[in-house]
Amino acid sequence: MGRVLLAAPRGYCAGVERAIMTVEEALRRFGPPVYVRKQIVHNTFVVDDLTRRGAVFVEELNEVPDGALVVFSAHGVSPAVKDEAGLRGLRSIDATCPLVTKVHKEAARMAEEGYEIVLIGHAEHEEVEGTVGEAPERIHVVDPARPDDLVTAGSGRMSWLSQTTLAVDETMRAVSALRERFPGLVDPPSDDICYASQNRQQAITRIAPECELVIVVGSPNSSNSRRLVEVALDAGAGAAHLVDRAADADERWLDGVATVGVSSGASVPESLVGDLLAWLSARGYADVEQVTLTEETLTFSLPLELRSSRNPR
Ligand code: F3S
Repeated sequence: MGRVLLAAPRGYCAGVERAIMTVEEALRRFGPPVYVRKQIVHNTFVVDDLTRRGAVFVEELNEVPDGALVVFSAHGVSPAVKDEAGLRGLRSIDATCPLVTKVHKEAARMAEEGYEIVLIGHAEHEEVEGTVGEAPERIHVVDPARPDDLVTAGSGRMSWLSQTTLAVDETMRAVSALRERFPGLVDPPSDDICYASQNRQQAITRIAPECELVIVVGSPNSSNSRRLVEVALDAGAGAAHLVDRAADADERWLDGVATVGVSSGASVPESLVGDLLAWLSARGYADVEQVTLTEETLTFSLPLELRSSRNPR
């Protein structure tokens, strides 16, 4: 019979909790429909659940009717989207994670000070699109796995920032490679990779060497969940897979496996981890040991519009 090592921290971070509560509270206060631009967090289960309760997820603001209420997702939006909402007279509530907002502010400040900014991240990710919008003419996106793809960042002063959910080690390797080519590269004032991504990566790094198999619960479009799979493999897991839910796991992965590691991305409800543990238990992996790296206590208060009796403008 096999055992399970359960990484902690895992699952919801403070930014995801706040974003989900923002939609729930908006539904409670103002009633459905509440429009949400993009997935509020990158998790299929969460989006389906909120849809059933009256949230309407759209890709762009032109799908939101005049006068409606729209919530911006945890990943952040570019200033142009906020301007468009204002021009359209839409009522809006911004559920951007405060740690993403911090990166936006750094980008805006650096651009104002005349820096060319190398943004290490995945160009197609919504967070990166939003951050680039702070200074499109000055921000140069480079993939953390391919820093050499950066052709030029201009001839002036250069600094770097990163997406909040990257793998720490890969990002630091990218910074070193960039610094070899651009020795004057200026560091940001503080880490951009958020506490939740770092904690989940460190926790999985601790269990991975003991695991022939690691299963991470998370949706395929969740950046931090995908990084957990890569980090587990880097740290010595025999194999690692991402599953949206327990039903997606494959019994063949268990062949010859004595120890299974389990974790989940920052947008994943704990009930989905419970489902995976039940799936494993039914296949002889009933001995579960939680390995805790640290306790997380951070919480973020709701957006201002939901803390007062004011109506969103
Ligand atoms: Fe924010 Fe990090 Fe979560 S940026 S939404 S605390 S994964």
